[in-house]
Amino acid sequence: MNKKRIGILTGGGDCPGLNGVIRGVVRAAVRRDWDVVGIEDGFDGFLHQEKCRLLSLEDVRGILPRGGTILGTTNRGNPFSFPIMREGKIELVDVSDEVVSRIELLGISALVVVGGDGTLKIALELMKRGVPIVGVPKTIDNDLLETDVTFGFNTALETATDALDKLHSTAESHHRVMVLEVMGRYAGWIALEAGIAGGADVILIPEIPYDIERVAQAIVERGRRGGRFSVIVAAEGAYPKGGSRVVKEAAGGKSVVERLGGVGEKISHELGGVLEMDVRVTVLGHLQRGGSPSTFDRCLSSRFGVQAVELIEAGSFGQMVCLKGRQIGAAPIEDAVRHLKLIDPDGALVRHAEELGIMLGR
Ligand code: F6P
Repeated sequence: MNKKRIGILTGGGDCPGLNGVIRGVVRAAVRRDWDVVGIEDGFDGFLHQEKCRLLSLEDVRGILPRGGTILGTTNRGNPFSFPIMREGKIELVDVSDEVVSRIELLGISALVVVGGDGTLKIALELMKRGVPIVGVPKTIDNDLLETDVTFGFNTALETATDALDKLHSTAESHHRVMVLEVMGRYAGWIALEAGIAGGADVILIPEIPYDIERVAQAIVERGRRGGRFSVIVAAEGAYPKGGSRVVKEAAGGKSVVERLGGVGEKISHELGGVLEMDVRVTVLGHLQRGGSPSTFDRCLSSRFGVQAVELIEAGSFGQMVCLKGRQIGAAPIEDAVRHLKLIDPDGALVRHAEELGIMLGR
């Protein structure tokens, strides 16, 4: 039997735990005497021979506690809609033929694609072109279906909760309202879970458009009960009833999707106009995507890597590794990218937050 050679790439925004997956894949593959080719910078790497390199055990030594990805990534790398410069203008062209033939040339018989919704959708398109693919779900936003949780989310939660703890003490000293803007484009998982863990007074998420007057009222009422400060956590994708998301940069140009950011300032401005208290804003931004993965994410990402190799061994292509309850398993990639996993405004998590006295903007 020919020696198996598998490929691995990381696509989309980075997150803590990517290196754990890479290490898990390489370790499990080497035990089977397979070769692993690491492709740098997502699918783009296939367009450059020097970006496709063999990964040995030495290459993955010591990377488990490291944030980011040793392979690099990009969130612009779609081979079906690849940006090239033609006569001073950006044009989108289909370079998927080139990618497929590079995969064949490299002798890759299965490809592990580590990514979120966008990257896994591209992977499905490549499957249709005959590339055997196994998916590994990643995103700090935790908005992928078919897995209870994605790795990276737990570390981001720790970062956001730590920020809330720190904001609490300064909010209390100065009797201020502190607004913490966290990531979460369409789903408010980070805001809601960190908000609960960090004892926030108000949590604003994209799934529940907020009413600023009610938010102000809740802060005033809290003041009457003796709470002379308030801490608000808002997902970057939160928006007011009848309003829209705050966009920092439109899609196109350098960004494939629109860049969000600024809702914290918007809330601060709106509250500043009606409250007598000082309002300050902290935008946590990419701190949530960086740093060393938490214990939970190290374990989950390592197991996801091993499971990906086991799926390849079993010939289960088109599947994505996942966590259901405490079991690592697999689900069709197609089901995972059907739509985003959003918070149910009438679900238990929101209800429990409200039972805790947290104001959800409604
Ligand atoms: O999808 C993960 C995410 O962190 C979003 O929450 C955020 O909107 C986006 O990435 C930011 O991406 P970029 O690094 O391109 O600014």
